[in-house]
Amino acid sequence: MAQYPALRPRRLRASAAARSMVRETTLTPADFIQPLFVQDGEGPDEEIHSMPGQFRLRLPTLLERANAAYEAGVPAIALFPKIADELKTVGAERAWDDEGLVPRAVRALKEQVPGLMVITDVALDPYSSLGQDGIVRDGVILNDETIEALVQQAACQARAGADFVAPSDMMDGRVGAIRGVLDDQGHHDTMILAYSAKYASAFYGPFRDALDSAPRGGADKKTYQMDPANTNEALLEVELDLLEGADMVMVKPGMPYLDVLWRVKEHFQRPTAVYQVSGEYAMFKAAGRNGWIDEKACVLEALLGFKRAGADSILTYYATEAAGWLR
Ligand code: PBG
Repeated sequence: MAQYPALRPRRLRASAAARSMVRETTLTPADFIQPLFVQDGEGPDEEIHSMPGQFRLRLPTLLERANAAYEAGVPAIALFPKIADELKTVGAERAWDDEGLVPRAVRALKEQVPGLMVITDVALDPYSSLGQDGIVRDGVILNDETIEALVQQAACQARAGADFVAPSDMMDGRVGAIRGVLDDQGHHDTMILAYSAKYASAFYGPFRDALDSAPRGGADKKTYQMDPANTNEALLEVELDLLEGADMVMVKPGMPYLDVLWRVKEHFQRPTAVYQVSGEYAMFKAAGRNGWIDEKACVLEALLGFKRAGADSILTYYATEAAGWLR
């Protein structure tokens, strides 16, 4: 008798039923967060040319898209505003205007789709005439001056009814400062989703097209976003944000940083999100539209990979569509 192995892993792969019995990870719509872009004004929604299928939505369609996400089982959206150029300033003061686009959109969303969680972005870049996440002086992003602005922006979003404020700016100490101001103003239940390990990535390109927020004016995002070469530093960033009061932390971008996601989840065992960013979306779209990959299968495989690597929540431009695919 030839020697054949006694252990045959293939037995459990032989049928769909057997595979389903031993599957370790499953994706559900509840794993997803849908990022949506919004802009003021009348007229049609504008498709973002480097993100086919994603639009700068007018308020009425924002509400429709948000409702569609909710109906598909997606529990949360993340809101990103496209601010008109004439409203952008060096000091980004429109970021904490209670009548600004984001507070108006949040109020409408909470009224129309009350069960949907609304996550607002805390960072100055959509409002900055220099496209920077912070206050710039002489080509330098000033940490503590930026925090003074960010806490006002976060408080403004909380007043409007945001469920989560999500600082994506990478200033040191901003989570603690935001938590303090929210608590002082009675917003004890407003949660913080911290972009903790946010890398200085080329994969944000299409997002900056979407918001017309490419950095100008010298200062380099590498002076605040993380070096793609580092992972120990990601653990430090996450630890600080948790100590400062983050309810949930995030790793961003997604697929090139699965190791970081895994380490963060293994180490802290705390609610962890990952962001499949605009450049990742653009690659799937481009290859899918050319017929080079099976878009749906590849996207679902990538999303499953995030879950397997430890993500509790996945920000993905595919959220609503993928929720439909999973039906
Ligand atoms: C900026 C911000 C960026 C993204 C989310 N918030 C871009 C940047 O840091 O330059 C990128 C998201 C994406 O690429 O999908 N506060």
